[in-house]
Amino acid sequence: MRPPIKRIALSTGGGDAPGLNAVIRAATLAARNRDWDVVGIRDGYNGLLFPDEYPDGGLIELTRDSVRGIIHQGGTIIGTTNRGNPTAYPMRQPDGTWKEVDRTQELLARFDEHGIDALITIGGDGSLTIGRHLHEAGLRLVGVPKTIDNDLEKTTSTFGFDTAVDFASECIDRLFSTATSHGRVIVVEVMGRYAGWIALNAGMASGAHAILIPEIPFDLEHVAALITHREQHGAKFSIICVAEGAVPAGGELSIVGRAVGQAERLGGVGAKVANQLEAITGRETRTVVLGHLLRGGSPTSFDRLLGLRFGAAAVRALDEGHTGVMVALNPPTVDYIPLEEAISRQKTVPLDCDSIATARDLGINFGDEPPRHSAIGR
Ligand code: F6P
Repeated sequence: MRPPIKRIALSTGGGDAPGLNAVIRAATLAARNRDWDVVGIRDGYNGLLFPDEYPDGGLIELTRDSVRGIIHQGGTIIGTTNRGNPTAYPMRQPDGTWKEVDRTQELLARFDEHGIDALITIGGDGSLTIGRHLHEAGLRLVGVPKTIDNDLEKTTSTFGFDTAVDFASECIDRLFSTATSHGRVIVVEVMGRYAGWIALNAGMASGAHAILIPEIPFDLEHVAALITHREQHGAKFSIICVAEGAVPAGGELSIVGRAVGQAERLGGVGAKVANQLEAITGRETRTVVLGHLLRGGSPTSFDRLLGLRFGAAAVRALDEGHTGVMVALNPPTVDYIPLEEAISRQKTVPLDCDSIATARDLGINFGDEPPRHSAIGR
């Protein structure tokens, strides 16, 4: 039988996502309403692993005052990192090389020293995998799913995704007027890692003419034929929305690089697609990479609400005695899913989903078939 909870910690890990501060606020208020103390660990787990590097010792007391007025703010008030995996922490060795060191026991000792009874870890698949490991090592813990990529399997949605899609759609709207005025082709590259959710949803919502996603390997001859077909029918401009993880049939993923202790960084496919399309069609083609802009800004009301619901549900889960679970949206409710199930598989776009069928009905080209005659679009 575990002792009752008196003090919990919150940690945000991996890339930030609009809605994180709503989670922090809801979890803090729900915990304070149970007379629990709440601390935020700075920058993932770095606040506990490197307390000397922080003027406040790496922990922020979270009170009603400190979480006031943050629901609409992007980012995370406690900071995050995608380099702080405590189970394989990159440490520089005396000879200048890097070695990954397992710092789990050291971290658990710090939780004890600070009298922290439980952790709410807010993050994507990487942070939730670390969470599962810490849970197995004995930490009482609940996960909150976060990613703009929407690629977590056991939750209908993650906060940050709606904001990213909304902003990408607005950007594509803006690109339409300049593309139309100049009679240009514009290729827009969006984030999403190995899933095409952002490209698919933003591309459809804004009327892009072709959408290239990781789930459907593309052949640019089809996209070029679409551009030419549109031109022959009086539309001299085209908008192509490309997911950063889109791959040419028989080709390779575009990788920018990989820093020590980080996942591979994707990027560059937009420029490659633009160059090749220009070469094939002879039409002036430009590239816009939306990149981290999709992670910034104020969360949409959908993401704020989801963040609030997840934050409060995580506290309820702890209060009800759950550990090793992730809160998950399963409309109309929020469920608790075992962490091992939550991280077992990545959620990619199913090829038989109605969005793909709808896009094809609208004449949107995925680079896997010749353009349909309806493909004039907006
Ligand atoms: O997972 C969220 C995400 O924004 C991906 O879409 C993108 O590939 C990656 O993070 C970028 O990470 P970083 O902030 O390290 O560049």
